[in-house]
Amino acid sequence: MQRIFIRTFGCQMNEYDSERMAGILLKDKDFSIVNSEEEADFIIVNTCSVRQHAENRELSYIAKYVKNKKVIVAGCMAQNLKEELFKLYPDLYAILGTSNFSKIVDVIKNNKKILLDGEFDIYERKFQRPKRIDGLITIMQGCNNFCSYCIVPYVRGREKSREVNDIVKEIEDMVKQGYKEVMLLGQNVNSYYDEKTKTNFPQLLQKIHNIEGLLRIKFMTSHPKDLTNELIETVKKGEKFVKHFHLPVQSGSNKILKLMNRKYTKEEYIEKIEKIRSEIPFANITTDILVGFPGEEEKDFLETVDIINKLKFDDAFSFKYSVRKGTQAEKYGDTVKEKEKLRRLNYVIELQKKISYDINKSYIGFETEGLVYEISYKRKNELKTGTINNKKVFIKGDKNLIGKIVKVKLLELRGSSFAGILL
Ligand code: 5AD
Ligand code: SF4
Repeated sequence: MQRIFIRTFGCQMNEYDSERMAGILLKDKDFSIVNSEEEADFIIVNTCSVRQHAENRELSYIAKYVKNKKVIVAGCMAQNLKEELFKLYPDLYAILGTSNFSKIVDVIKNNKKILLDGEFDIYERKFQRPKRIDGLITIMQGCNNFCSYCIVPYVRGREKSREVNDIVKEIEDMVKQGYKEVMLLGQNVNSYYDEKTKTNFPQLLQKIHNIEGLLRIKFMTSHPKDLTNELIETVKKGEKFVKHFHLPVQSGSNKILKLMNRKYTKEEYIEKIEKIRSEIPFANITTDILVGFPGEEEKDFLETVDIINKLKFDDAFSFKYSVRKGTQAEKYGDTVKEKEKLRRLNYVIELQKKISYDINKSYIGFETEGLVYEISYKRKNELKTGTINNKKVFIKGDKNLIGKIVKVKLLELRGSSFAGILL
């Protein structure tokens, strides 16, 4: 029996891929999954490459264990650094790229050293999933947009959509296991397209909405340029769709948006947000902000500040630009000084904190429906629930309510979540 520990860095797609690897390994009686590095024979490190900072953390994590454990590097950094990883760490057991997760058993049993090629990973629908109410499912991988700063198209490849029926069957299996909510994942979910059945993303959503027993549907990430009225209408009409859009704006300056190759202007972006808000008044809208992109001058940065002030996002994830080898923007240099990047980053973080606080405060007293997920980690006498617009509310209640939709009232703020009561 080989004991495996999986450490996941990065986004929710990585989380899903790690769950899938764990589920595939658990189906084989030769493997068990353990909860710490110390207990493990093998450590699988599922990695992210989106910023240098992420890679640095992962490299030091690997360095810590590579001498005493059999370490397998999987995912984006494996795909990015390739054989170089063996030069850095000759003791590595194997590297496994972003289209090879399903071959994890082969890697371990047959001591395969390098698996980086391969088409779209064959999805194992029936892997053993963790027992939860809300689950992840990747519906498409890769990206064709080539935003000039981004490494994703190089490490995850071009856009590939899974077949509709395959996705629907996987979700039906999840529902049979007790899942009530799914989060559909992809780098750019709204450009989902199944060639075989000619199904676009809103049509896929409708099919999933029809699955009996499923209560809630979320999705991320959407690219602003592909956000259609059809999608807004679909989300508005379907009661199971969580009213939340994550729409990374990155910058408020048209000059920078062009250099970033985002394919929309600030004005077009604002128009889309206004459209969502007019159709779905309580929509939760979040974004990503990237500061310090090469060529970003003070006046460009102030336009980003401006759009944050104008649109009042529920939340924003803000990042400092980090040069990625092989991308278009690498050629633009790294013109904004580190200290200045940090100043801009801190400024937008502080600004967004105030905006999020004001928005959330306005929800106090609000009565809505919450899906009960689980017992709270911190307070064992509380249940964690999620509202239809994706706000977290903690309530006191019986654990038999887990998996049910209940009426809640939001009473007070607790960071970015709420304490509430069951009505
Ligand atoms: N440097 C910093 N942030 C980046 N992102 C993508 N590439 C980079 C990079 N090179 C950010 C973008 C994206 C989020 C997932 O990560 O804001 O939306
Ligand atoms: Fe990267 Fe742009 Fe694709 Fe998002 S849309 S993954 S930022 S290239």
